[in-house]
This record gives sequence, C-alpha cells and structure tokens, in this order.
Amino acid sequence: MRSQELLEAAKAVAVNAYAPYSGFRVGAVIVADDGTTYEGVNWENAAYPSGTCAEASAISAAVTAGRSALETVAVACIDAGDDEESFPCGQCRQRLHEFGVKTVIVAKPDGSAGEYRLADLLPHGFRFEES
Ligand code: THU
Repeated sequence: MRSQELLEAAKAVAVNAYAPYSGFRVGAVIVADDGTTYEGVNWENAAYPSGTCAEASAISAAVTAGRSALETVAVACIDAGDDEESFPCGQCRQRLHEFGVKTVIVAKPDGSAGEYRLADLLPHGFRFEES
C-alpha cells in the first residue's frame, strides 16, 4: 500500500478508538515484512495510565499473528487540529524500534502523507544486549 492509502486506513480505523477521556482518537496501521497490515486504535481507561496507544494496539495485533519484523507504521488522529502533525509518542517510538520499524507516516497539515525515518524520530533507540 502506498503512504496515502496507509494514512487513509489509519484514519478509517481511528473511528473505533475508545477515547472518552481525552477525546483524541488515534488509528495506526502497521506493515509487516511480508506486506501484511495490522491495525490498532487507542483505548483508554478511567484509571488513566491503564490505557493504550494505537501504535501499541497495532503491534499487539501483529505480534499475536506471529509477526515480529515490522517495517512501516501510519498513524492518524482524527481529532487533531489541521495545523499539527501527530507523531507517535516517545514510548511508542521505542516500541516500534523494538520490531525494526523504519518508516513512520503521519498526516501533514495539508492532509497529505508525510514520511519520516524512525531513526530520525528516535535516535539511539534502546536495545538490550545480553552479555
Ligand atoms: N495516543 C496514541 O494513541 N498514540 C500516541 O502516539 C500518542 C497518544 C493516545 C493515548 C491517549 O488515548 C490519547 O492519545 C491522548 O494522549
């Protein structure tokens, strides 16, 4: 799928987000190394820290399906103002780094798909090397 299609798919799934506390509905679509796509949305909880980001939900779907090599993520918030790009939060950047995601797609202010390298958004992402 091309960037714009992935972004549209992320927007489409964001309507399923459960975000009664923030009112900020986010959708994510992840492309695995075999081209399969996995979707996720944010879902919140009355105990605020118990909620989950859309990117984490999409990673859960991919890993549950047996995919641990991921390539691209498209993230869309359907409640963000037009003038702000909604990048993955810091914790999600690290989560995406774990599974090898290289490319992050978000909506630019004009609605077109902006492509970024995860390595630019998360320099020196953490890896655990067993000694
Ligand atoms: N959120 C995401 O789904 N992804 C991010 O990268 C940042 C934030 C969600 C979490 C919460 O439900 C809402 O957006 C407001 O922070």
